[in-house]
Amino acid sequence: MTAATPDALELDDIQSGVLHPRPSPYAGRHLLLRIVDRADGRELVRRLHGIVDAGRPSARPAGGAWLTVAFTYQGLKALGVPEASLESFAPEFKQGMAARAALLGDVGDNSPTNWEPPLGGPDVHVALAVLSPDAAGLETVAERARRGYADLRGVEVIWRQDCYQLPNERTSFGFKDGIGQPAVEGSGIPGSNPHEPPIKAGEFILGYPDETGSLPPMPTPEVLGRNGTYVVFRKLHTRVAAYRQYLRAKAATRADEALLGAKMVGRWPSGAPLAIAPERDDPALGADPERNNAFSYGDDLRGFKCPAGAHARRANPRDALDAEHLTDVRLHRMIRRGTSYGPMLPDGVLEDDGVDRGIVFVFVGTHLDRQFEFVKTQWLNDGIFIGAPAEKDPLVGANDGTGTLTIPRRPIRRRLQELPPFVVTRGGEYCFAPGLRALRWLADLDT
Ligand code: HEM
Repeated sequence: MTAATPDALELDDIQSGVLHPRPSPYAGRHLLLRIVDRADGRELVRRLHGIVDAGRPSARPAGGAWLTVAFTYQGLKALGVPEASLESFAPEFKQGMAARAALLGDVGDNSPTNWEPPLGGPDVHVALAVLSPDAAGLETVAERARRGYADLRGVEVIWRQDCYQLPNERTSFGFKDGIGQPAVEGSGIPGSNPHEPPIKAGEFILGYPDETGSLPPMPTPEVLGRNGTYVVFRKLHTRVAAYRQYLRAKAATRADEALLGAKMVGRWPSGAPLAIAPERDDPALGADPERNNAFSYGDDLRGFKCPAGAHARRANPRDALDAEHLTDVRLHRMIRRGTSYGPMLPDGVLEDDGVDRGIVFVFVGTHLDRQFEFVKTQWLNDGIFIGAPAEKDPLVGANDGTGTLTIPRRPIRRRLQELPPFVVTRGGEYCFAPGLRALRWLADLDT
């Protein structure tokens, strides 16, 4: 279906947690719920409808904290969404993340059989996320949410994960994260990269034209699909000690260690991009939102500054794809909401302390297949597009101890060998975050 004129984004109907840049720093909590009884499930949705915020990104949510609600396919079934409507959802969503494991590279230690229960299982129905600038705000909104389900015997909390963002925005490997975000046309949210024109709203919100000029396939009826979006939720354990040991073993000096780490990520720990600061970290650059994402790779196609295999460059090659695929980059963008869980491994510690730490990832977009799944399978787990078919992402790729990273250098390139896995998938789900009218529709189901 081709849309003639793009409609204005109905921000008042879109959950604010979807487009809204998060507070920084923040305290957060993810909860997963199971709907045992349909009527109680609908009552829960009715109550959540009353406390989920929508509105302009500049508006502060009530209580100073964001509550976002999303459902798995099993959750929509548990609510009694009619069959024809269930059928109209994206096939990947209907299958669920665990069923996509082989494709996503979730094998071996990452396989759903090793996932943390109940992740990937049939009991995961509702996902709630609460984020607040401080712990007190978090508790206030979490308590409001709790009142939404506490007295409902037919709704059970089956998983809880507290999470946070540090004031320096660094996550467990020590790098500042969440810098690169696409601007969404019509949302009023400024982009972080002045070289990237805003992406069409239909890439992130259902019911609007996307980058192809068409309306993405939308679940029916329209009231359910419109202003909703798909949400990828993944808990990723980070093997921080293994990462530090690897760098220590491969580097000749501490400065070399820092450089190798940056070559793997594409940025320095402060967030300064290699594309602008290729030699050494530049904390002032990393901290400057006007400059820390204002770059492209066009003057570094061979990767002397930032290797083509670096994580951030793989995940968003910007203008570095060959001419034939250059415009495709815009078809593979996602809103990214990574958040830390578990305590940081103290600086300088190289031994594993056995504590679980990592990142809960949330990716938002209307096309699970050509956004999250494409980036994960074609750009992070494969190297064909950068002319190095055997290479996977050095930081987050499904490496098995035989991985390599080519670091272009004059007079001869350097190659990191024997890359072990630094990230282990603990589980995840594909969810659907409906608009506010859709929440009302779900609450009022009477089948
Ligand atoms: C534990 C796993 C991961 C870690 C530690 C990690 C870390 C990072 C870091 C440090 C950056 C640079 C900061 C920034 O540009 O905002 C980054 C960028 C990015 N990552 Fe990841 N990441 C992980 C997993 C993933 C996965 C699974 C995907 C996608 C499937 C992904 C997609 C991206 C994207 C799209 C960017 C922005 C690139 C840009 O716009 O330049 N990341 N990541």
